Formats: sequence, C-alpha cells, structure tokens
Amino acid sequence: MAISNSIMRGADKMVLASLSMSWLPIPLVRGRGRSVSIIYSQNYTSNSNSITATDADYKKAKTKTRTRSNKEYDYEQVGVGDDSHVPVMLGEVLDVFSSSQRSICSFVDCTLGAAGHSAAIIRAHPELQLYIGMDVDPVAHDKARSRLHSLLQQPHLHSHLILSNYRHIKSVLGDLRHPLSGVDGILMDLGMSSMQVNNPERGFSVLCNGPLDMRMDPQATLKAEDILNLWPDAEVGRILREYGEESNWYLLQNKIIQARLCGGLHSTGELVDLIRNTTSRSKGGRQGWIKTATRVFQALRIAVNDELKTLEDSLYACFDCLAPGGRLAVISFHSLEDRIVKRTFLNIIESHSLDGDGGDKEGRRMEMRNIRNGSDAEETWIRQMIQGCNGTILTKRPMTPSLEEERLNCRCRSAKLRVIQKV
Ligand SMILES: C[S@@+](CC[C@H](N)C(=O)[O-])C[C@H]1O[C@@H](n2cnc3c(N)ncnc32)[C@H](O)[C@@H]1O
Repeated sequence: MAISNSIMRGADKMVLASLSMSWLPIPLVRGRGRSVSIIYSQNYTSNSNSITATDADYKKAKTKTRTRSNKEYDYEQVGVGDDSHVPVMLGEVLDVFSSSQRSICSFVDCTLGAAGHSAAIIRAHPELQLYIGMDVDPVAHDKARSRLHSLLQQPHLHSHLILSNYRHIKSVLGDLRHPLSGVDGILMDLGMSSMQVNNPERGFSVLCNGPLDMRMDPQATLKAEDILNLWPDAEVGRILREYGEESNWYLLQNKIIQARLCGGLHSTGELVDLIRNTTSRSKGGRQGWIKTATRVFQALRIAVNDELKTLEDSLYACFDCLAPGGRLAVISFHSLEDRIVKRTFLNIIESHSLDGDGGDKEGRRMEMRNIRNGSDAEETWIRQMIQGCNGTILTKRPMTPSLEEERLNCRCRSAKLRVIQKV
C-alpha cells in the first residue's frame, strides 16, 4: 500500500465527499443540530469513518444558486434500519414518477446498481406491468437480483434484468417479446456504486491499492493501465484536461510518460504516488494531491468507460423509447455530466422544428423555450419548466438534495436531478 495511514485519515473526508456514488452505506447519525458526524455502519474501506458537516458548510450550501429539494427525508423509505444502501434523492425520484398524470405501467432502470431506486419504484407502483433493470456490471446484477427477487414475483409483472450497457436500450426493448409502444418511466443514476468503489480490485478508489482497471463492464477491453502506458502523450494530456478539468495536466502528462521509461504504471498506488510527488512540488500544497488524484481518477474512469459520449447518445435513445407523456429522470454527479444532460435535453425538446424550413430560428427558439412557472398543485417539485415541441423539461434548474439528506450523507451533495417529459 503506497499511501500512508496518516495521510489517508485527513484525505478521506475530502475524497468521500467527492466520489460520484449514488448509494451508500447506511449512516448512523451522531450529534444534534447543525453539526453532525456520520458514522458508517458498513465495512467502508476508509480508515477514518467520520464525516463532519459544519455550520460553514450549510451557510455555503444555502447561498448556492440551486433548486434545492425541500422534500422531507423519509428514513423508512430509504431503508435506514436494515443493512441495505441508501439511494440518492430517492424521495424526489419517487415524486417524479408518482406525480405524473399517467400511471407507470412500464419502467426501465438503466443503472440498476444495488436496485435501491428500483425496489422503491416497484413498491410504489402496483400498476407496473413491465419492469426492466439494466447494468453493465455483473456484480450489480447479483446484488439487485437478490434484492428484487420477492418484489418481482407478482403474476401480472413481466420483469427482465439485463446485463447491458444502457446505450443499447433501443435494441434491448426491441428484443422483448411484449409489444411496446413506449415506456412510461426511465431512470439513469450515473456514476459508480459503492460496490465498485469499495472493491480495490476494480481500481476505482484513490484510497485503496489495486490494479489500474476502472472498467464498469469487466468484459470491456480497455483498462486505465492501457491509457497510462500506451496512449499517445497528447491523448493522455487531453483526458486529464478535458475529463479531469485538471489545471496541472501538462506536468502530470509528462510524469506519466516519463514513468513509461521505468516500466510504466501498474497499480493505483503507483499512480497516486506519482500524483502526490508531482502535486506537492506545485501549487496543490501538502494535501492538494488528493484533490488532484480524485480528478485524475475521474478522467481515467470517464475515458475507460467512454462515459460522456455514451451518456449523450443514450439520452437521445432513452427519450426515443418513451411513450407520449413518459418521463426520463437523470441524476448526475459532476459538472461534465450535468452539462451534457442540460444541453441534450434542450436539443431534444427543440430539435425537430429547428431542423425545419429555416426562417427566424432565434425567434422560434425563444418561443419553444417558453418558460413558465409550474402550476399543477400535485407537482409541487416542479418550479419552472421549458416547453419545446417534442417535450418539456420539467426542471429548468436541476433539483439538488435536501439539506437534511446532505447533512446525513455529504457524498450526495454534488447530485443533480433533471427530468424531461415527452409530449
Ligand atoms: C450509482 S450506481 C446505481 C445505483 C442504483 N440506482 C441503486 O439505487 O442502487 C450506477 C450503476 O450504473 C452502472 N453503469 C454505469 N455505466 C453504465 C452503462 N453505460 N450502462 C449500464 N450500466 C452502467 C454501474 O455499473 C453502477 O452499478
């Protein structure tokens, strides 16, 4: 193990807060008021198990421009009390599909994970006739299968757990034997699962030594190791710059290329050592390396799994699979993902008429972006919508977790939920 324990203790708090995970070990809350320690009851891999949110954190969070959810955090709903995991923004996701004018007879969870969201949605929708859960990771499938087993036993419910990339959603639905004109609800909960991060063999964690793998799909051929040791210099630099948004990318690129002369990088510990040695000599400061390492790991993970292109293509494909009135909800965990969701939703709602006969495109764009206040008394979570000819964006601004959820689980704090509805 290349990282010393003392460094990890300090670093854990930052890294745990920045990991893109959307379901987490159940927290046991200690303390009252606005300064809370969360002790994780599961065998979370870190040495330091305490995350503290201070008054300053809350003041900062309050001043952010965001549509923060004011949904009450429902301890029973998220499963506190059993040994399962906590899905992010579960109450908000349930609202998105429950308050829809139409019943949810068909539903696709593109990112099954441990099936926390799926289990709650299946419970909340007894009218459900077709449920499909997709994930590229067979470990997630095993976990989800056992969690959903009894819920999927209802005689009127056809269910399929499919080991597939969500970019193939159209062919997955096309191969089903049920005739389907479109699905009523689709969920994408992006990022890594705790099962993936907590397993050092997967290579996702900055804090655990393991192989430089980072594949969500263990059948895929490209690993992080291949990028670091074989890709052209400029490509290594590009992913650090574009996918990690790392200002020190050029120095890191050179160090990575130099490391090839001594046999290359073959473990996450070696990569972390390289980052630490490089960062301490530059502006990152003594502990700055951990933030840099988080950005470098994010960049590699995005490249290994082709996450951004896959996301963009899949948003279009998912929208095409919706029935009229159907909804697509997406939870993202970093600005690169959220930007793609935001931009693609706008493209989707306006694309058809902008492709048309020219004319006053700007005028038509404004017309299509007719922003109005949400008025439906039942849909209190909708604040402002953007209407287009193909659909309506129900979240002009993304929803973010409630203060209470963030207080209990500071790793959810970068989550953003955006929802689009087909006309
Ligand atoms: C954050 S977890 C989902 C957690 C889940 N919502 C729950 O409640 O337990 C994200 C999951 O998406 C999966 N995933 C990531 N990229 C994928 C892709 N392109 N296609 C299918 N699944 C993917 C990961 O393997 C991971 O299990």
